[in-house]
Amino acid sequence: MSDARPIGVFDSGLGGLTAVKELIKILPNEDIVYFGDTGRVPYGTRSFETIERYAKEDIQFLLRHDVKMVIAACGTVSSAAPHVLAGCGVDAVDVVSPAAMKAAQSTKNGRIGVIGTQATIKSGSFKNKIHELMPGAQVFGVACPMLVPLVENGWFGIDDEIAALAVERYLCGLKEKNIDTLILGCTHFPILQPVIDRYLEGKITLINTGAAAALRAREILSANSALNDSGGARKFFVSDSAESFARLSQIFLSTDTHEDVSLVSFG
Ligand code: DGL
Repeated sequence: MSDARPIGVFDSGLGGLTAVKELIKILPNEDIVYFGDTGRVPYGTRSFETIERYAKEDIQFLLRHDVKMVIAACGTVSSAAPHVLAGCGVDAVDVVSPAAMKAAQSTKNGRIGVIGTQATIKSGSFKNKIHELMPGAQVFGVACPMLVPLVENGWFGIDDEIAALAVERYLCGLKEKNIDTLILGCTHFPILQPVIDRYLEGKITLINTGAAAALRAREILSANSALNDSGGARKFFVSDSAESFARLSQIFLSTDTHEDVSLVSFG
């Protein structure tokens, strides 16, 4: 049995493309519909009520494309509005649970760092999930809101001085906590992975939340006999600035092809 309907993926902006990249790697025959709410990014500085409302609208948009699964490729939505995702009516995957599980499996000393947006860290989502799996773990969260606009604006190269300074400023406290595992709890952050890894001198295991979510999506589809073996089409929708999305998506997805991107409005 198979299911040829697309997988729906959404994020507040471009960060969710890090999950799409992983999905394409491990599920190349799946059709994907992506929505990036570039007109309303960032979500991470907003109230839980607003994040919940945006998440509902994003999911409704994807459901109109008859998706078989929704992936919230956004640490903020996964943390602040998990109930909206869970009640969406199709299989749903967040980025918190799969990454928390991976971190719990990976740590040797039980000391785990989490970086994310303000809303993500405030929610305690990663910490709570890790404690369910590993009650004795020490979890240290740091909100890193300024890293999001750096990524959205393309300032993430390994030699970018501003990116290096921002990473140092946010991570210096964590470096002293003797963590051996760090969850990149925002889907924008894997783009900064080389900068982060350099600052941490390659000594700490970095968990890519989008990659962990993609693996969970494959597990669920496989268990439900709902994989697609003959697709591979991708459609991208944004709520603002389709041109800059087309340019940056090449970097995020590591392709040289211009993706098919359309502008949508919820107004
Ligand atoms: N994509 C969001 C996340 O993963 C970060 C950007 C934002 O604040 O909206 O948390």
